[in-house]
Amino acid sequence: MPTITSTRNRERSNQWYQRAQQSLVEGVNSPSRGAAVYSPGPLVLERGHGSHVWDLDGNEYIDFMMSFGALIQGHAHPKIVEVVTQAIAHGSHFAAATPAESEAADRFRRMVPAAEAVRFANSGSEATMLALRLARAHTGRTKFLKFEGHYHGWYDPYCLNGHSHPADKLGPRENPTRFPDSAGIPSAAFDEVVLAPWNDLETLETILRRCGRELAAIITEPIMANMGCILPQEGYLQKVCDLAHRYGALFVLDEVVTGFRYAPGGCQQYYGLQPDLSTFGKALGAGFPVGAVAGPRAILDRMRWGSDGMVLHYGTFNGHRLTMRVIAANLDLLTANAGAIYKQIYAVGDAAIAGVREIFRRRNIDAIVQGFGPMFQLYFTRRDAIHDYRDYCQYADTAKYSRFIHGLLERGIYMTPSNGLHWIVSTAHTMHDVEALLAAADEVCAGLA
Ligand SMILES: Cc1ncc(COP(=O)(O)O)c(C=O)c1O
Repeated sequence: MPTITSTRNRERSNQWYQRAQQSLVEGVNSPSRGAAVYSPGPLVLERGHGSHVWDLDGNEYIDFMMSFGALIQGHAHPKIVEVVTQAIAHGSHFAAATPAESEAADRFRRMVPAAEAVRFANSGSEATMLALRLARAHTGRTKFLKFEGHYHGWYDPYCLNGHSHPADKLGPRENPTRFPDSAGIPSAAFDEVVLAPWNDLETLETILRRCGRELAAIITEPIMANMGCILPQEGYLQKVCDLAHRYGALFVLDEVVTGFRYAPGGCQQYYGLQPDLSTFGKALGAGFPVGAVAGPRAILDRMRWGSDGMVLHYGTFNGHRLTMRVIAANLDLLTANAGAIYKQIYAVGDAAIAGVREIFRRRNIDAIVQGFGPMFQLYFTRRDAIHDYRDYCQYADTAKYSRFIHGLLERGIYMTPSNGLHWIVSTAHTMHDVEALLAAADEVCAGLA
């Protein structure tokens, strides 16, 4: 990536970034936060309030990343601050039974249609890991199907075709070339993985005819959120669910990004789906680390100690008391006034989407905006739509997107330059934020070659 010179004062950010690199790999704790995407290095953030963040040099930004989607209530929401302050005064975590965990679970169950029961863990990755173990135990099968370009966390078998690759190297749709996302994973871990392109029922059926009876599960994101924002074709998700069942596999919906965001009951509510298992994280914890697996008793009760074919799930921090208190408060905020806050999120998100589309149209820029309401992504492309991973690899000009975002960063809009992620609207965002975004985007577009 070419080095981009900032006109904002970033002196302290840069100093801290240099210092951090002495003890941390790339100066960060996850590559998507560092020099892999930010040039010449990341902003070093110091505080956040509502929809705004400030870096170490005092520069202010409107935050459209919201901690990769975790901050559905924005930064330092007064209710969350109050709950955490009160709870910590009586201890942080007991790793024992607490009222806090059932208060969180009761609310969760009331909101998520497929949740007869829920099990809390500490991250989305832990949740998807557990879901796969449950699916394997429940079906007595070991293979599972994942879609190209879907990300389900960094557990070994999921780390296949999660990054983009040159379009001419992707192989046939019914037998995609397999790209491990990481070294250090035994190839045997991938022997259990069947890969398929998303949004393509015909190819999925061909693949299932080949190996459907060996599958414990088909796992999918309901809206593809790790190649930007790619929507399912109409009826697609229900058909994938039906196909999974036809072959005796479980339909696992990974709602780590979409859960509590598109509707109180996530995408399963929005699209009217009944997944066998669903996984959550991010927005559930309103900024606190959490993961969750929800489903019917018949599957979740496999975790009962000593049950026949018991599924093991341990964790010192599972059901962390502070997180559970935050979840209860967060879910109360989201369901107050019959979920009226979702209308606000949708109105703000849709206004941002419409405004950016209008700028692209007026300035004659080959670019599109995909998504609706709470989450969206822009692609610099001549195509009308990006339908799947292959379209993303072939048609999305990710270098141009990065230049566009670096221009926005200069103008006080905080967003990751990685095209594979997505813009997030929280309950804290306002129409003023949208106006500021559109003014900045218009300026950047004026200079975009
Ligand atoms: C769809 C999806 N599933 C799972 C995960 C993993 O969640 P976590 O980062 O909390 O481990 C992510 C993270 O971005 C995700 O986008």
